[in-house]
Amino acid sequence: MCGIVGYTGKKSALPFLLDGLEQLEYRGYDSAGVAVVGEGGAAVVRSVGATKELRERIGDRELRGTSGLGHTRWATHGVPSEKNAHPHAAGPLLIVHNGIVENSRSLREELEARGEVFASDTDTETIVRLVNRTMEEGGLSLADAVRSVIHRLEGSYSFLILHRDPEVPLVAVHRGAPLVVGLCDHGVFVASDVTAFPSEVRSTVFLEPDDLLTVEPSGLFGIRCLASGRERAAERIGRNRTEEHGKGDYPHYMLKEICEQPRVLAELLAGKISSGPAGLSLHLPPKVEAVLARARRLRIVGCGTSYHAGLLGKYRIEDLAGRPVEVEIASEFRYREPLLDPASDLLVALTQSGETADTLAALRMAREAGVPTLALVNVPGSTIAREADAVLFLEAGPEFGVAATKTFLAQIALLTLLALHLAPEERLAKKTGLSRQALLSEFLGIPGLLDKSLSLDSSIASLARELAAAPLVLFLGRGADYPLALEGALKFKEITYIHAEGYPGGELKHGPLALVEKETPVIALVSPDPRLLPKMVSNMQETLARGARQSAITARSAFEEMAPLVATELSLPDCSPLFFPILSSVPLQLLAYHTACARGLNVDRPRNLAKSVTVE
Ligand code: F6R
Repeated sequence: MCGIVGYTGKKSALPFLLDGLEQLEYRGYDSAGVAVVGEGGAAVVRSVGATKELRERIGDRELRGTSGLGHTRWATHGVPSEKNAHPHAAGPLLIVHNGIVENSRSLREELEARGEVFASDTDTETIVRLVNRTMEEGGLSLADAVRSVIHRLEGSYSFLILHRDPEVPLVAVHRGAPLVVGLCDHGVFVASDVTAFPSEVRSTVFLEPDDLLTVEPSGLFGIRCLASGRERAAERIGRNRTEEHGKGDYPHYMLKEICEQPRVLAELLAGKISSGPAGLSLHLPPKVEAVLARARRLRIVGCGTSYHAGLLGKYRIEDLAGRPVEVEIASEFRYREPLLDPASDLLVALTQSGETADTLAALRMAREAGVPTLALVNVPGSTIAREADAVLFLEAGPEFGVAATKTFLAQIALLTLLALHLAPEERLAKKTGLSRQALLSEFLGIPGLLDKSLSLDSSIASLARELAAAPLVLFLGRGADYPLALEGALKFKEITYIHAEGYPGGELKHGPLALVEKETPVIALVSPDPRLLPKMVSNMQETLARGARQSAITARSAFEEMAPLVATELSLPDCSPLFFPILSSVPLQLLAYHTACARGLNVDRPRNLAKSVTVE
């Protein structure tokens, strides 16, 4: 969590830092700050709130300098306040930091006993005070002082340190939290994520754990191993795609990202399904095919929305391919000592960001146990994308809204493709009544049907106005609609701050039905699956009998069954049940979005959350 950005070059640093921070806000937005260093000295400005508040705080002041640091914070140690906002300082040094120093309390006590007076409650200040002391006492350069104390700082983190003397090189350290270098004609950037770079940055270098980067004011940079001090060659990766920044004509990133989904899905499928003389066929990267071919059991791990996508994957892969799949929340998996079998297991890490600390730890555990790993990731160059044995990219483009939308859709689409890839033809026909060819052909038509899901927008907006004052909303589903119900509830509570629960329809009478009273809103997900539809109808009758105000997201053909049960029917085009969750995820996203708007909330920046969860 937290976003950091630094610049050293020939141009004024401040505009780059502020623009970069705006792009990094998805990582946290409790407080923000910048430091700029130039011939005239150093200036530091910090404020509570996001970059907008920081810009207001800077006002007309000219902060001159061609080197600088910026930080947008998601509080871990110390409440969000100006004194805890970064950059922090000690002597001539200024620091911005992402991640956690786990032993900061004992280090702080030690430093205080030696006379250091802390100005904040953060763990970050421990780093800069320790480095400054070591520099002073040992007569060391900044980079050497960092190297000599780094082994004392436990945890997973990264930081940038700048000296108030503009001639001293900027120092960056990667100890487990992502850092990437951006190179252009006028200078060098270093940040938590490429989204912080301006368009003129044409090549990037991803730092590895235990890298120490130094950047001289001339733009010369070097990467050394923190432990050995040895230089390492840096592989430059071209950046030929202009990232899709900005909200365009949309009021929020979330709405823009929801509306991008037909294109995202069409592009994803076009890259995986091709047509040849023998008809349609599915292509996966050879490394992905190789790890899948030898896997007898899939162990899916993920957090939040990614975990829900994994649950849906289990339904699809077990059903169609007949291979056992276990799905687990990564933070549980990593501390449970799961029984891993290198001969039969494949660990599949689901993660939009590719940086989620618990998912990364689960992946590393599997690797250590000799289990092959496959990652489904959106962010190229992210730590999980680099560490997994094989990667399938979600190819959804940058997602800035904190609530995952298009990346969830890409995850469930890719998992459905994996199920189709792994399914023996005979089993597929038995389960679906269709051939792989027919299913791939139908899949290619799904992006077109997503436009129909989006066209429900105004009906959903009026339902959202009803829900805006509800104390509780229940989401119900059976089969693959159950993970969707969980996801619908998560999206809803995360941005509306209204309590929501996702339940399997059949589980209601085992407890949660007690929550239902007159006017309790229930959102039922009803796939056109002939085995499950009548069962959902029974469950909806049970809630109706207790006075629930029900809405159904269902296929047009189920209209007759639904009509007596619901106040609002959101009907989607008919399609094979296999693809229905792809269509029905969109109304769920729009429902959360419009309810949050009706409540006047900051849809893209829900309180207490950040997009990239790099702390456990
Ligand atoms: C909710 C949401 C989160 C993430 C979770 C995992 O809308 O986005 O629940 O899904 O923090 O993040 P990734 O997928 O980056 O590992």
